[in-house]
Amino acid sequence: MAPPQLVLVTGAAGNVGRTVCAGLRPFFPLRTFDRVPTPDDPAAHVGDLTDRAAVDRAVAGVGTVIHLAGCPRMEAEFIRDLIKPNVEGLWHLLDAARLAGVRRFIFASSCNVAFGATELRQLKTDTIHALNPYGATKVFGESIGRWFFDTYGMEFLAVRIGYFRGLAVDPGLREAWLRRIWLGPRDCVKIFRLAIDAPKFGYGIVYACSRCPENYLDLTSARALLGYEPEEEVPAAAP
Ligand SMILES: NC(=O)c1ccc[n+]([C@@H]2O[C@H](COP(=O)([O-])OP(=O)(O)OC[C@H]3O[C@@H](n4cnc5c(N)ncnc54)[C@H](O)[C@@H]3O)[C@@H](O)[C@H]2O)c1
Repeated sequence: MAPPQLVLVTGAAGNVGRTVCAGLRPFFPLRTFDRVPTPDDPAAHVGDLTDRAAVDRAVAGVGTVIHLAGCPRMEAEFIRDLIKPNVEGLWHLLDAARLAGVRRFIFASSCNVAFGATELRQLKTDTIHALNPYGATKVFGESIGRWFFDTYGMEFLAVRIGYFRGLAVDPGLREAWLRRIWLGPRDCVKIFRLAIDAPKFGYGIVYACSRCPENYLDLTSARALLGYEPEEEVPAAAP
């Protein structure tokens, strides 16, 4: 049997990254990359996405990339906050990955690519209506990922993450709109694990949420491409 492939997780020191790394480490050899040191990983690569040499070193020998690094803020300003990590940095990582022979690139996208479609009762994976410049950078990510697949055959999956904090008690869950898109920590690990292991799919877009009211995020493609079925229910809000 072939040895398990090396998985690179960028943004490993972040909110999603810490949970994903802890959940995946028993199953895959992991390499982590972040601009700050990753907790509990003395071998972590510390570097910026815009430093091409650092990115080249990070992707060497990697089979799958889980790309979480970037600016995650809905209120971020395009020139000041977003263009370097979410556009230029993404380009470097994609280009370095395809040159290094990476087979599958899993990209942390966001519901913000579609939140502008306020008239819809359910967001589909073909809904593109960015709510803000942050969401527009994720639209760019999904689009340039399509181009990398079409041009170089590197598989690309955009995971439109709902709302992830990984908190046992989360005051954010007083907000109805966040309850509709909540992603629990076990489901978060589950969907990224399935994304690594899924049979070849080429290019795809999936939403990532747990069992949320109103089925606001359409999980049809997550089920079809990955066999994902959420297990966690949205918890009660903190008092
Ligand atoms: N948490 C959510 O609810 C949510 C929802 C939708 C999408 N996402 C996406 O998931 C990803 C992770 O989100 P998060 O909540 O963990 O954010 P986070 O801010 O906690 O983590 C992001 C990590 O990326 C690193 N990073 C940022 N810029 C970098 C750069 N230029 N070079 C190297 N590392 C850099 C940061 O140091 C940080 O550790 C982001 O791409 C975000 O847009 C998150």
